[in-house]
Amino acid sequence: MNIPKHIAIIMDGNGRWASKRSLPRIIGHQQGVKAVRKVVKACGEMGVQTLTLFAFSSENKNRSAEEVSLLFKLFLSALNQEVKKLNKNNIRLKIIGDMSLFPEDIQKTASEAQMQLAENTGLTLVIAANYGGQWDIVQAAKKASEAVIKGVISSEDITIEGFSNYLSLAHEPAVDLLIRSSGELRISNFLLWDIAYSELYFTDTLWPDFNEIELKKAIESFNYRDRRFGSRKEN
Ligand code: IPE
Ligand code: IPE
Ligand code: MG
Repeated sequence: MNIPKHIAIIMDGNGRWASKRSLPRIIGHQQGVKAVRKVVKACGEMGVQTLTLFAFSSENKNRSAEEVSLLFKLFLSALNQEVKKLNKNNIRLKIIGDMSLFPEDIQKTASEAQMQLAENTGLTLVIAANYGGQWDIVQAAKKASEAVIKGVISSEDITIEGFSNYLSLAHEPAVDLLIRSSGELRISNFLLWDIAYSELYFTDTLWPDFNEIELKKAIESFNYRDRRFGSRKEN
């Protein structure tokens, strides 16, 4: 089996999972964290190099203040609980997105966790928090233009490769497989630049029901794809 080097996941459907059971949405999010644990473990064991998870989009801050604050709390407690285990499993952590929105305690815990896990050499776990694909391209454009103004690079250096050095996933392998759970067929402003040639996999499974078996199904589907990248094999 060909294991994708980089898998990205839009973890969607927590709210519907909860409302199907007449439970508050936050219970769905809590169950979603359990699915994250399963998928991180499975990716580490399978030898995936990078797993990028969409945890909170730049548009999710428009949800009710109550849901946003509960999501922040859940993010903080999951970070605190998991760091030790991530370290034991040699997992490196990288958080991408505009963290300035988050309360200071979360920002502090997030940067400490990243530092603590920085030297690990196994799976790279990327968490996208207050992340938007459009935001990423704009912040990269700002950094690149500042570098030109300072004379660090010239405008000729702004090629596709040169520009991508300023994106949040600059040093990660290309995204091979993008998965979205819960049946929605859209990108919702997740990675834009980085999924130029990714294989897309959509499943109706709601995120809290996602597990290693669902992940293997996605990878199996990936294995049947003919990745041509625009060219054709010569006969
Ligand atoms: C995904 O689940 C988690 C986040 C966006 C934080 P949702 O909360 O979007 O669940 P649905 O789409 O309402 O079912
Ligand atoms: C995308 O899901 C964001 C995350 C999974 C974190 P949403 O539920 O926010 O997306 P829409 O609103 O259905 O497009
Ligand atoms: Mg949703």
